[in-house]
Amino acid sequence: MGYQIMRRTHTCGDLRFSDLGKEVCLQGWVRFRRDHGGVTFIDLVDRYGTTQVVFDPESLSVGIDTQALANIVKTFTRESVVSVNGIVRKRVEGTNDIRNDTGDIEVLITTAKLLNKSELPPFELGNQKEGMLPGEDVRLEFRYLDLRRTEMIKTMEFRSRFVHLLRQYLESQKFLEIETPILAKSTPEGARDYMVPSRVHPGTFYALPQSPQLYKQMLMVAGMDRYYQLAKCFRDEDSRKDRQPEFTQLDMEMSFVTEKDIQDNIEHMLAYVWKSIYGKELQIPFPRISYLEAMEKYGSDKPDLRYNLPLVKLSDDLRNTNYGIFKKVIAEGGVIVGLNLKSDIALEKVGRNDVDRYIDLAKKFGLGGLTWMRVKNGTLESNIVKYFTPENIEVIKSKMDAEEGDLLFFMAGPWKKTLEGAGFMRRQLASDLNLIPKNTFQFHWLVDCPMFEVDPVSGKKDAYHHPFVLPYDNYNKGACFDILLNGYEIGSGSLRIYDPDVQKKVFHILGMSDEKIDEDFGWFIKALGFGAPPHGGIAIGIDRLITVLLNKETIRDTIAFPKNKKAESLVDNSPGKVDDERLEELQIMSLAINDTDFDNIEELKK
Ligand code: AMO
Repeated sequence: MGYQIMRRTHTCGDLRFSDLGKEVCLQGWVRFRRDHGGVTFIDLVDRYGTTQVVFDPESLSVGIDTQALANIVKTFTRESVVSVNGIVRKRVEGTNDIRNDTGDIEVLITTAKLLNKSELPPFELGNQKEGMLPGEDVRLEFRYLDLRRTEMIKTMEFRSRFVHLLRQYLESQKFLEIETPILAKSTPEGARDYMVPSRVHPGTFYALPQSPQLYKQMLMVAGMDRYYQLAKCFRDEDSRKDRQPEFTQLDMEMSFVTEKDIQDNIEHMLAYVWKSIYGKELQIPFPRISYLEAMEKYGSDKPDLRYNLPLVKLSDDLRNTNYGIFKKVIAEGGVIVGLNLKSDIALEKVGRNDVDRYIDLAKKFGLGGLTWMRVKNGTLESNIVKYFTPENIEVIKSKMDAEEGDLLFFMAGPWKKTLEGAGFMRRQLASDLNLIPKNTFQFHWLVDCPMFEVDPVSGKKDAYHHPFVLPYDNYNKGACFDILLNGYEIGSGSLRIYDPDVQKKVFHILGMSDEKIDEDFGWFIKALGFGAPPHGGIAIGIDRLITVLLNKETIRDTIAFPKNKKAESLVDNSPGKVDDERLEELQIMSLAINDTDFDNIEELKK
């Protein structure tokens, strides 16, 4: 029986009750098969859905070679790709699959062909139950199979639609999509660069862009007025749950704007996408929180504001305490913050052992410790209360709104480290005690950010965002802001310096010499000198945003081919070795690193 491969007439998600009796051709993958007394049921799957196709010899009309067909269907092993022709029929009463749009019908196979046999898949693709998936490295090695799973298909569809809507909105607002180079000049965003050696100019390198920052600024000098790009960015830094060495930004830049203009644009863009995807209005404008308030009230520059649990700064109120640790911290100009766990949670869920566990955790984070008190019989109880004057106790009670049964935690030490530690404890408590509402999206703007940060160890000044942010308040503050969602920084933006002298001054403050400025950024400062307009922009981390919106465990679940935690791509074994010949061509010395000649490397480098 010759079988002409037909074009499929429908996808595996198309057929309904209204198609009964139609002759159809479906093509897809064999997910499950069950044999029942000579009848074979197959779940045929593609991106669009699942259709049950049935080999049922009793139902076939005379003239069909059932034995030949049986032999073909026998070869339909799991995840093989097949083509079947058949007739749409009603399912047997009581076997309808109500979870499936095609669940009222099945296709009686009349002819079939194995298009390509699959090797035995290393894991089950159909079972979506939690905990049924193999380790992530196996999923990444066989990513093309992992991506066949409905959950991954749904993610890719969501991402594609999301990005499409962004583009649609931006095009309607006169933004131009312009591509900028991947073989680029180094752009400092605080990470290491990935370098690409030049064959034509031995000894020189391109850098893969950490972001298109300087190109988009030059596009403003060029008068493009409004630019956007779905830009690939590359940063050689340690991977984390919300970080990849290679990721995508929605990168934007605008001329003649204020900070608020940029923020308004983003809010309207997200509201447009929100309405299209969820059918709901997004509440705009987003609330704004200053950097100082975020740090002192929530212990983070990206606080999760879906739950309250605020920190209360007490350093100014406890100046005359006799408690040694607090006294010392105040003398050294540090900070004391408290956190009140209200009685309804504290009494029920946090016992003495839990408190000890939180003390250990605080120490692990690097805090000196965690002091605690309970409110009992109208006063404060703990082994250190004796060091506090009645006025101290009153001020703690009133500032922290302490009521019967509440559990109070205190953290004290240097400003940044202590607040970050307190923020960590706040997150930990909220997560342990189930205080974080699900399916809530809380956008915020973080504003009033510093221009520079001083590294507490090296004492070196660094740009809080990057060195192109427009400074104000005598170079103390920067016109920069972040957009936050549920405790993640999903984007950051700023107004930019457009005066070459100011740009030079910022580099000077960062400790660069005139020669170094000239060598690294002379070309850019030159561009600013040719009529750069006042301008500003923002970049949104698309992978990260999708991760939060879809409530995914890691950013890797939103990227088709991500790197693993060690920056490896397991599906194609990259990074990989390069032939000596190629290295020679690039005039790069081959350092054959293995155990035996490891000692030699320093020699070779000389
Ligand atoms: P920034 O470095 O803050 O700003 O990056 C903007 C946003 O990109 C996302 N992001 C990342 N996502 C995944 N993996 C990473 N390694 C990673 N690094 C950053 C974050 C972040 O908020 N040029 C500036 C923007 C500007 O000023 O216009 C920039 O790149 O969501």
